[in-house]
Amino acid sequence: MLAWVDQYNNGIIILLNDEEELLFVSKSVERILAYNVADLIGMHWNDIISPEDVKRYIVRDSEMNQIFNVNVLHKNGKYIWTECTVEKMEDQTTSKNYYMLSLVDITDRKDAEELMIRSEKMSVAGQLAAGIAHEIRNPLTSLKGFLQLLQAGVPRKETYYDIMIDEIDKMETITSELLFISKPLTDQRKQESVSEMIEDVVILLEPQANLNNIVILFNPVNDVNIYCDRSQIKQVLINLLKNAIEAMDEAGMIKIEIHPSDESINIKVIDEGPGVPEDLIHKLGEPFFTTKKTGTGLGIMITRQILEQHHAKLEIANNELKGSTFQINFPI
Ligand SMILES: Nc1ncnc2c1ncn2[C@@H]1O[C@H](COP(=O)(O)OP(=O)(O)O)[C@@H](O)[C@H]1O
Ligand SMILES: [Mg+2]
Repeated sequence: MLAWVDQYNNGIIILLNDEEELLFVSKSVERILAYNVADLIGMHWNDIISPEDVKRYIVRDSEMNQIFNVNVLHKNGKYIWTECTVEKMEDQTTSKNYYMLSLVDITDRKDAEELMIRSEKMSVAGQLAAGIAHEIRNPLTSLKGFLQLLQAGVPRKETYYDIMIDEIDKMETITSELLFISKPLTDQRKQESVSEMIEDVVILLEPQANLNNIVILFNPVNDVNIYCDRSQIKQVLINLLKNAIEAMDEAGMIKIEIHPSDESINIKVIDEGPGVPEDLIHKLGEPFFTTKKTGTGLGIMITRQILEQHHAKLEIANNELKGSTFQINFPI
């Protein structure tokens, strides 16, 4: 019976020692990853996971029953997405540590998630395009004017050159932010400046806000960093800021605030829309839940997913007077 479980269970069980060498592998690995059990014994854990994951996760440092996603190498050279649960065990007599890993193939789930993120990004890019095209037309018009002046042979050319370069810089930043949206999310985590990420996102969404007579207020705070993947957290901020703009059908203000404390760094997006009805708050984040005509209902779901992977939380509350506050809490 045990042999049968060993062979046919849907996951893979691996036992590692403190050096992260494989001591035991369930026979199911032969079916799932096409290796022979005997070939794997004695190998290092790092040799069968992707190099990025080697950098990201150290089994020895994981907490009790910690779950992480890791790419494991199939014998055919391709990586398979798995969800890996780690259990740390101590041998009382030798006081040596062992790690029991339980891996489940989640390729299908990952594919579905990626598809949803892609379609949300595409829909966002499409919705922002009108505002951005508008925003780029102004600098183009002024560039044209300056070129005509230069053509006519005006004196003090240098001042014109400086202004022209400024205008081109503006267009460059905004187009590169727009291009960012159409790229898939990465997962490269490092210390990132919260204010810089917010500023990038404000550049991208300001045209949309301008079209609706909404002012985005943000005062950068220096030296507040979080350990994260920049593209993912920017995606979260885009979702929240875009929702805030869409919630407001009159002119008004959106405030973005950074609140660092000893335990956490909080980012607040405060809008002046109608707020979220109490009976709907718990529905936000369900896939495809939307109250908008052209909504996808994926924004909050993706936001929650990304935050969960960063051990961060999203809190939604209605403001006293009007509007709502979407707050992200990053633990330190
Ligand atoms: N700032 C906000 N104020 C009021 N309602 C909001 C706000 N943000 C999100 N919502 C509600 O949550 C729903 C889901 O948002 P989201 O997942 O981003 O999908 P979508 O924006 O495509 O509708 C929205 O349709 C809206 O009803
Ligand atoms: Mg949205």
